[in-house]
Amino acid sequence: MTHIPVLQKEVIDYLDPKPNENFIDATIGEGGHTAAILEKNKPNGKVLGIEIDPEILEKFKFQDRLILVNDSYVNLKNIIEKYNFGPIKGILFDLGMSSWHLEESGRGFSFQKDEPLDMRFGKENQNDLTAEKIVNEWPEEEVERILKECGEERFSERIAKEIIKTRKNNPIKSTFQLKAIIKKAVPSWYQRRKISFATKTFQALRITVNNELENIKKGLEEALDVLGDGGRLVVISFHSLEDRIVKNFFSTFAKDYEGQERKIEILTKKPIRPSLEEIKTNKRSRSAKLRAARRGR
Ligand SMILES: C[S@@+](CC[C@H](N)C(=O)[O-])C[C@H]1O[C@@H](n2cnc3c(N)ncnc32)[C@H](O)[C@@H]1O
Repeated sequence: MTHIPVLQKEVIDYLDPKPNENFIDATIGEGGHTAAILEKNKPNGKVLGIEIDPEILEKFKFQDRLILVNDSYVNLKNIIEKYNFGPIKGILFDLGMSSWHLEESGRGFSFQKDEPLDMRFGKENQNDLTAEKIVNEWPEEEVERILKECGEERFSERIAKEIIKTRKNNPIKSTFQLKAIIKKAVPSWYQRRKISFATKTFQALRITVNNELENIKKGLEEALDVLGDGGRLVVISFHSLEDRIVKNFFSTFAKDYEGQERKIEILTKKPIRPSLEEIKTNKRSRSAKLRAARRGR
């Protein structure tokens, strides 16, 4: 399956790229959204694309108006300074992992393939925390906590218990091993639901390994500081934990706070959802929510 950018038209509508304007794609992934921006900001507008995973960046061919940076968007300010990039008319965050991670990375993001439990986005850019380390070395309470906090898993207690029980005799090395453990821990009705019984545990591990929730907060703060007046901020999230952070961030800065005047105007009263048609052709889009704001009062 090839990668289809999510909410492509809506991203362009809200970023509103015009000829010769510069944009940042903070999560360039496979470059779907960036390609659409580069079409609109011809002939001299640039895109600075940031991607934490060096393996994904290897797939890009040289393009004149595209600057690629292998780094984390939490370092946005430094990156912009280093590349002397500006003025910036808009910044896009398309959060989470790319389809490449699920389908081709071989790092254990998908419970539909038997792979080692790694789940790091960019091995070189991260500490050495892997999903394997969490399930084999972390104390039971900590495993339970992340399943609850980063997965909203209602059976976090049972799953954590089963993980700890199994690893005493047998280190947990692969996705299929972990999936079998989760299956054993949860009731049978939970196994028959449309959404897989393993989804939330896998999500929790991925978020923890990559420190995703903290990163989003830091990235958005930096983005706000570098956007010029009238500049657009567009964020696509894929689950409620991400969306809550974005929503709270937007509402904090859309009003006067701590004695400062408000910094943004929210452009999306409610989050924008993909159409049924888009969901039909791109299953990955089904949980997407887009929120957009404009810098300035
Ligand atoms: C949903 S995909 C982006 C897809 C992209 N919009 C496209 O059209 O191809 C998210 C990407 O962000 C990257 N990513 C995750 N955390 C990051 C971070 N802290 N800094 C930079 N990139 C990050 C992931 O590796 C992944 O490739």
